[in-house]
Amino acid sequence: MTTTKKIQVGIVGAGFAARFHVESLRRIYGFEVELAGVTSLRAESREAFGEEHGIPVFDNVEAMLEHIDVLDICSPPYVHEDGILAAASAGVGIICEKPLTGCFGPADAGDEFFGNQADKAEMLEELVERLKRIARVVRDNGVFLGYAENYIYAPSIQKEREIVEKTGAQILRMVGEESHNGSGSPVYGIWRFAGGGALMGKACHPLGGVLYLKRAEGIARNGQAIRPVSVSARVHEITRLDGYRDAGFIRTDYHDIEDYGLMHVVFDDGTIADVIASELSLGGLTDYVEVFANNHRTLCRISPTNLVDTFNPRGDQYEDIYTIEKISTKEGWSPAVPDENFTLGYHAEMQDFISCAATGAEPQCGLDLALDSMATIYAAYLSNQNGGKDTEVPSL
Ligand SMILES: NC(=O)c1ccc[n+]([C@@H]2O[C@H](COP(=O)([O-])OP(=O)(O)OC[C@H]3O[C@@H](n4cnc5c(N)ncnc54)[C@H](O)[C@@H]3O)[C@@H](O)[C@H]2O)c1
Repeated sequence: MTTTKKIQVGIVGAGFAARFHVESLRRIYGFEVELAGVTSLRAESREAFGEEHGIPVFDNVEAMLEHIDVLDICSPPYVHEDGILAAASAGVGIICEKPLTGCFGPADAGDEFFGNQADKAEMLEELVERLKRIARVVRDNGVFLGYAENYIYAPSIQKEREIVEKTGAQILRMVGEESHNGSGSPVYGIWRFAGGGALMGKACHPLGGVLYLKRAEGIARNGQAIRPVSVSARVHEITRLDGYRDAGFIRTDYHDIEDYGLMHVVFDDGTIADVIASELSLGGLTDYVEVFANNHRTLCRISPTNLVDTFNPRGDQYEDIYTIEKISTKEGWSPAVPDENFTLGYHAEMQDFISCAATGAEPQCGLDLALDSMATIYAAYLSNQNGGKDTEVPSL
């Protein structure tokens, strides 16, 4: 279904995510999209971004809200909730980058705050309150919320959803991973801005993928989502080990976050998923979900996708050639991705979100999946605090 209503989108954040959101919003078909505003923390960065992309610049979210239908939140996690509450209260729809929200320590926390040492039972309790508040304000105001977890929209995950739905498959176990060498964001690695480390920044992706596929399985078979009920987890700080030998290739400047995390998730039908995330991985992205079902097996490659392998004997030849996110060298063999915004699911997520904002339909990845993802991750932090003990995932 198409509509003639123009959807006016305002973006918060002028960094890495804002850039691929703009690229994807500019490729929407069937709906008219106007990039009606951008704002970010620093005047010079929002003005440079606005000028580069031809988007009006606003001093803050509040000033932008009356000019837009949808607020697209591409700021760091610590301000996601503020944006969601402000937009929902103004009747404006929401697209929110992952992770939905988290716990960031006391309001006035500075460098003396170490999130990795904070009590995770208290954090889980606080998180549940935050999630309830977000859910209440979004639902009470009846606004659209698209949770920008791109794994859900990656073509490989969507193919597997089709297989599960059409064959009536039962997924028995899954393994998923997202690993690469850190993040380019200056505030990544600091708990009070990011709300956690590898589990929050990276594991949220394959976790979203596995939660989505079990939801789809349950809804296809009997109209009810299969949900996570418990998690056991371990996290580690490998680059801060006394014996870590820094060879200079892997990012090490994390303030208080884990650089490795492992979650074992149990669903309400007793089936399982294992999710791995690390910052310790050279050679670009390692992003996949593998599904072992009662009637088939599928490896969903998110990145690399094995579309192109290219050999370059001399790095400078490829100076102007993009190969794949986070590749540290272009010498030798590279797994090049011809259209990363497509293979990572960025196009499809924006298409779905704009279509739903225009028509009132439910997005593939909305509030419910975001709530389950966040509750699972903070239950995982509590599990780790208790040595990996099986821990209930709060149901919201
Ligand atoms: N889905 C993905 O693959 C993916 C990839 C990268 C980042 N992300 C997510 O996108 C979000 C942003 O990450 P990024 O890598 O673009 O970070 P970034 O640091 O590159 O950009 C963040 C932007 O937000 C602005 N900002 C910071 N604090 C702000 C505040 N209080 N109010 C308004 N603006 C503020 C900064 O000025 C900057 O322009 C994060 O939630 C991250 O997890 C998702």
